[in-house]
Amino acid sequence: MNEFMNRLRLKYPLVVAPMAGGPTTVDLVVASSNSGALGSIGAAYLTAPLIEDFTKNVRAKTSGPVAINLFLPHGILPVAVDKIAKAIKATESYRKELNLPVPDLQPPYEENFDEQFESVLKIKPEVLSFVFGVLEADYVKAAKKENIYLIGTATTLEEALALVESGVDAITLQGVEGGGHRGIFDAKIGDPQIGAIDLLEQCRAKIRIPLIAAGGIMNAQDIKKALEKGAEAVQMGTAFLTCKESGVSTPYRKALLASENRKTQLTRAFSGRLARGIENRFLLEMGEKSEAILPFPAQNKFTRDMRNASVKAGSADFLSLWSGTGHGALWTESASELIERLFV
Ligand SMILES: Cc1cc2nc3c(=O)[nH]c(=O)nc-3n(C[C@H](O)[C@H](O)[C@H](O)COP(=O)(O)O)c2cc1C
Repeated sequence: MNEFMNRLRLKYPLVVAPMAGGPTTVDLVVASSNSGALGSIGAAYLTAPLIEDFTKNVRAKTSGPVAINLFLPHGILPVAVDKIAKAIKATESYRKELNLPVPDLQPPYEENFDEQFESVLKIKPEVLSFVFGVLEADYVKAAKKENIYLIGTATTLEEALALVESGVDAITLQGVEGGGHRGIFDAKIGDPQIGAIDLLEQCRAKIRIPLIAAGGIMNAQDIKKALEKGAEAVQMGTAFLTCKESGVSTPYRKALLASENRKTQLTRAFSGRLARGIENRFLLEMGEKSEAILPFPAQNKFTRDMRNASVKAGSADFLSLWSGTGHGALWTESASELIERLFV
């Protein structure tokens, strides 16, 4: 039992990853927390009232530790009309195929962070975790006042050191193997592509606060390795995606289970930010038209109609099929059974 587990009353050194946009369900968070892991609410795309509702439903079924996870705001300027026209042209044939009208993309492109943050202060979860940068000092102070444990996310040693400086309590180190969005602070720069274990070794040598290793961790052996290299805990996303409680759509679930060697790639196609997903038609074809991809989070809002229509059509062609590089059969029973198996 280490400091991290003690403070958060965890039976296992495991954070079940926040997975915004569908996979995180009330039942997944509840099963995780009730099994002795830290369950995480992927709240990035939820409005403040929806965060409150979601958490109320979680709290009705568990008194275990819970994290709420947010994306730090990007606050980009409205995208220029000619750029939107280019993006519309590049996706015109897809929208025709999906019977969708020409989109009218208007700001705001992301949820209101201040309102989300206020709801977190009100709810007072055990943990607030976040990605895409350093939380400003006033917010850190406000969270600490409510005794909320803060976990930032880093993809490099430099980002991790900046998080330490800002006063977070722990850091999730996200290796390039991980599924979903890369937590890189600057949305526009390239990816240094550091693997989870390398990043852990670099950071452990310089950082004393708890480190949580993430990226490609799929089984008991992977967990053991990360803990031996000095992580206080691991964070796992992909391994939980096909659990009974996961909210992935049917075509997404099928794509995950189709092969034990899921072929993934980093892409900006769906949201404008680098994220790792299983190769599909939209990911591959937009790779050839990268000049028509809008900045995050505008592209995320811009592709939402296509992603929703793809689910309705039962097709995985236009879905963001977030997945890590970890290979092997995926678990389809309950999350609690998976957690027990990971720590036998
Ligand atoms: C479907 C999916 C959605 C994700 N959404 C979020 C999110 O909302 N917030 C976040 O901090 N990380 C998110 N992640 C990244 C995870 O926190 C974690 O870094 C990653 O899953 C670890 O790698 P693994 O998928 O190989 O286990 C997501 C990952 C996946 C697979």
